[in-house]
Amino acid sequence: MAIIDEIKAKAKADKKTIVLPESMDKRTFEAAVKITKEGIANVVLIGTPDEIAKNGEGFDLTGITVVDPYNDPNKQKYIDKFVELRGSKGVTAESAQEQMEKDYMYYACLMCKCGDADGVVSGACHSTGNTIRPALQLLKTKPGIKSVSGFFLMETDAKEYGENGTFVFADCAVNVDFDSEKLAEIAALSAESFKSFVGAEPKVAMLSYSTKGSAKHDDVTKVAEAVKIANEKFPEIKLDGELQLDAALDPTVAALKAPGSSVAGHANTLVFPSLEAGNIGYKLVQRLAHAGAYGPVLQGLSMPVNDLSRGCYADDIVAVVAMTAVQAQNA
Ligand code: ACO
Repeated sequence: MAIIDEIKAKAKADKKTIVLPESMDKRTFEAAVKITKEGIANVVLIGTPDEIAKNGEGFDLTGITVVDPYNDPNKQKYIDKFVELRGSKGVTAESAQEQMEKDYMYYACLMCKCGDADGVVSGACHSTGNTIRPALQLLKTKPGIKSVSGFFLMETDAKEYGENGTFVFADCAVNVDFDSEKLAEIAALSAESFKSFVGAEPKVAMLSYSTKGSAKHDDVTKVAEAVKIANEKFPEIKLDGELQLDAALDPTVAALKAPGSSVAGHANTLVFPSLEAGNIGYKLVQRLAHAGAYGPVLQGLSMPVNDLSRGCYADDIVAVVAMTAVQAQNA
């Protein structure tokens, strides 16, 4: 079974409520209908009657909940919560209402925060920054987590590598700048994500252009230091580095460059040393190897919120909703 079908089956087993705030986009309606018909999640759409009538024309919305942000009995509760959370940043009842009506992503995050939904998927027509920012501001990180990061679940035909060709790649989406401490945290969150979505034991490679001191540079030291921190803080995780990609994946290269490593040659969770490397790396594998790339899925948030590519198809939205629902089951 393809990994995404396994994830959909998991989502169906304990249905969660996921908000799709982009009612200005027809793909959202197509996805909402599919998700509802397949029983993957309970869907909430946010939109005015006009938006729903215009963009949802021709779609059977039976079983889908529609929330009108101008006429919702729960709205005052969300405004109060917004002010409670962001009053210290200057948010007033007036500005909260204005922001929620202007940007439904805020409305969706407040629904989650007030316990009326379990997760949000957006980004079919908003940038990554604009999708993530309301979640960072309102939902915040899980206890003990400093930083949210973004991973891709990669499904390749290279069955000899990773977990039967399946990998987690991170951080490919969020942190433009990180130190060793943050990199160690990204590694731990990625191991948890791998375990939760793939089910097998994560083997985490901390990637670099150097293997075990073969090159000297501050960039290499940053990764080596992250390995040290991660091994001290999370001794239960199988994690090693710094490793070059070939040493991480290929047992023959691993035997030469990193003999004795419990991860080298068998890595299934790849932690990149920078956002450039992670973002370019996942796109290379997606395009040149025709791999399935599911994400970016955010890890470390207190409740699941996930982003979409603006070039996504309705089926991509369905897949990300299934992943969000599984995250909500584990939240
Ligand atoms: N984890 C947790 N909280 C964070 C993080 C993080 N990684 N980053 C920012 N925050 C918090 C801040 O502490 C702040 O909280 P506060 O308002 O309560 O004080 C809030 O989020 C806003 O932070 P800003 O510093 O103002 O950050 P900004 O809004 O400028 O941007 C963002 C944050 C959107 C994540 C930014 O780092 C970004 O744009 N990252 C790159 C996204 C991107 O373009 N990715 C590549 C494309 S994705 C793809 O190709 C699939």
